[in-house]
Amino acid sequence: MRILVTGGAGFIGSNFIRFQLRETDNIITNLDDLTYAGNLKNLSSVADNSNYSFVKGDINDKSLIEGIIKSGEISHIVNFAAESHVDRSIIDASPFIQTNINGTAVLLDLARQYGLRMLQVSTDEVYGSLGPTGRFTENTPLDPRSPYSASKAAADCLVQSYHHTYGLDTIITRCSNNYGPFQFPEKLIPLMVINSLNNKELPLYGDGMNIRDWIHVEDHCRGIYLALQNGLGGEIYNFGGESEKTNKEIVNLIINYLGKSSDLIRYVEDRLGHDKRYAIDNTKSARELGFEPRVAFEKGMKETIEWYLNNEEWWQDILSGEYMDYYTKNYDNR
Ligand code: NAD
Ligand code: TYD
Repeated sequence: MRILVTGGAGFIGSNFIRFQLRETDNIITNLDDLTYAGNLKNLSSVADNSNYSFVKGDINDKSLIEGIIKSGEISHIVNFAAESHVDRSIIDASPFIQTNINGTAVLLDLARQYGLRMLQVSTDEVYGSLGPTGRFTENTPLDPRSPYSASKAAADCLVQSYHHTYGLDTIITRCSNNYGPFQFPEKLIPLMVINSLNNKELPLYGDGMNIRDWIHVEDHCRGIYLALQNGLGGEIYNFGGESEKTNKEIVNLIINYLGKSSDLIRYVEDRLGHDKRYAIDNTKSARELGFEPRVAFEKGMKETIEWYLNNEEWWQDILSGEYMDYYTKNYDNR
């Protein structure tokens, strides 16, 4: 395959590219606009790989991408590029609409023009929020409740419409919350690890009892590749970690591992519209793709915390940039 990976300098995209270059002979072109979340240091270990190249650019830039498709003889597009943080979408939804919706439409038009398979990396958040029981299947109706998840759901609808209207060869994957190395510090797990290491307050939203279904990023990347290779055009595949945890459990695991005191925990004003629970039913992806999450949660978490301990320079660089402006906006006076 000759894959155009968009958003490959972010958390999941960079893990996907390293996995591809490690385990396949595929040729990868990474297009990323290097927003606050994009970081070429995530890919320094593969920067010189002859099967890899990087282009800085926006997924809304149709002529730039058309040039890449032609010169790189691209056969597949995997779209990771997105504004991905719910709290930022609550502060300002406009970049979410511009990238997640408009940008996806540009990629769809190009995939159609050049007859490419396009895989859209979506999220379980498009299904909304669960009560105490049940899990999301691919047939669960869309019910997005944050500007982030609404923008992802809109993109999914566009993808489905291009399949139904033009017969475009599309795949949508919807995954639960990822954790692992290179996750940007704004997200729950790296934020709590880094704040603990800095003896800073650990801000739990609401009562800390919201539940997420955590999956290791390597499992997600394997699922995406299974779907890219073997998925049926027009289909949707869910991937979950089968590891439901409350946010409080996550924070307790981190402080126990790092030997920190629970006095660092502070319960802060809840996120607006905070989804209560997400959980994925993997039945379809297991049956049709042979997918199963392989990384045991406790082991994956320990390795992830160790990664942050061993890569302080990586996160210190981020802490010295735009991140602290966002942190002040989201957490001060909360
Ligand atoms: P991330 O924020 O770490 O990375 C996003 C990347 O996209 C960055 O490198 C950024 O520079 C790039 N980007 C943003 N706007 C762009 C644009 N207009 N043009 C080109 N590049 C642009 O996000 P992530 O956590 O790696 O998530 C990747 C994808 O997976 C997203 O589509 C997200 O919705 C989806 N997803 C994430 C999770 C999760 O738990 N993180 C779970 C399920 C699905
Ligand atoms: P997050 O990592 O932002 O992922 P998402 O909102 O996409 O699921 O948050 C995971 C959970 O952790 C979510 O219930 C919100 C909660 N949370 C906190 O309690 N405090 C925080 O500082 C952050 C960032 C998240």
